Amino acid sequence: MMNKENHRIKERKMEKEGTESRKQARLAIMELANMISVPMSLNAVVRLNVADAIWQDGSNSPLSAAEILHRVLPDGGGDSENLQRLLRMLSSYGVFEEHITGGQRKYSLTDVGKTLTTDDQGLSFAHYVLQHHQEALVKAWPLVHEAVVDPTKEPFEKANGEAAYSYYLKKPEMNELMLKAMSGVSVPFIRAMLEGYDGFQGVQKLVDVGGSGGDCLHMILQKHPSIKEGINFDLPEVVAKAPQIPRVTHVGGDMFKYIPQGDAIFMKWVLTTWTDEECKHIMQNCYKALPEGGKLIACEPVLPEYSDESHRTRALLEGDIFVMTIYRAKGKHRTEEQFRQLAISAGFPHFRAFHVDHFYTALEFQK
Ligand SMILES: C[S@@+](CC[C@H](N)C(=O)[O-])C[C@H]1O[C@@H](n2cnc3c(N)ncnc32)[C@H](O)[C@@H]1O
Repeated sequence: MMNKENHRIKERKMEKEGTESRKQARLAIMELANMISVPMSLNAVVRLNVADAIWQDGSNSPLSAAEILHRVLPDGGGDSENLQRLLRMLSSYGVFEEHITGGQRKYSLTDVGKTLTTDDQGLSFAHYVLQHHQEALVKAWPLVHEAVVDPTKEPFEKANGEAAYSYYLKKPEMNELMLKAMSGVSVPFIRAMLEGYDGFQGVQKLVDVGGSGGDCLHMILQKHPSIKEGINFDLPEVVAKAPQIPRVTHVGGDMFKYIPQGDAIFMKWVLTTWTDEECKHIMQNCYKALPEGGKLIACEPVLPEYSDESHRTRALLEGDIFVMTIYRAKGKHRTEEQFRQLAISAGFPHFRAFHVDHFYTALEFQK
């Protein structure tokens, strides 16, 4: 009797496996299970400097893997078939465009691929890719589940014995890569932001908290000559590496202890890496540093309320897991409503959000 029943269940299961929805489900889980190939291949083409090899001052002519290999390894050697495997797979993710002519595969850069080419300031998104895939960060990823089991210590710290920022600071090459990674991502964003946001009108002294090398401040000051003075405030080891910028003073310190005074405070990509309590503390220090009516302008990734399959939602949710794994198990990407609640908890009576970009939102907290 039992055997007959088992047999029927087995038959039903086998029948079900042949339906279109089961085929799609198996395909989707295989894609997810192999997904690690995507960032790792992206990292590989960045390490090989493939984007610059194809771009060649804007020609972007389709090249075979062998031609690209010749440019990235001019002394010879290498395996063009393996390079082609990376290029094919990344073409399916929109990084390269594949051209097949006369049975030969060639590759050019898409708009996504072009973000990896080095600009006249030596910047690109390539450094951000490299920064994320350094050995110390990669070691944290098999421990993501630990952030659920015990959120008091970040997977990064569990893997490396030290919190991420202090770990970077002890390693000059990591510190330097972090600065380049931040500039590569922030410069194009600030350029876009300054085209559509005019919240800096009337400001004479602007403080950038967690300003890294000072790129954001530099661009804001160039666009707004009426801002007489900029203070780039970051950890002492970080500002020690920052370049000289006209009208900008670099100040080293700890934002949890003190924030320099200004008419307005700018902050980009800082709140995200801290817990609600820590954000409240940082924002209260900003409040103290501002005059009546002064503004804190924070540019942060802002999560949508609903989870969907769009690129935007995925990029923001993936960044959220990155923060949880590397920086703070209870640091997070927040929704607009969660930022509104933070504003209230830190004492800012006015809050407005400006959707100036798909990844970052400009948030104004006014005193
Ligand atoms: C994600 S980066 C953002 C950098 C820059 N604002 C940008 O968007 O390009 C966060 C910055 O916060 C700085 N930071 C971390 N802890 C800090 C602290 N306690 N006081 C001041 N700055 C800090 C880091 O050194 C780093 O430059």
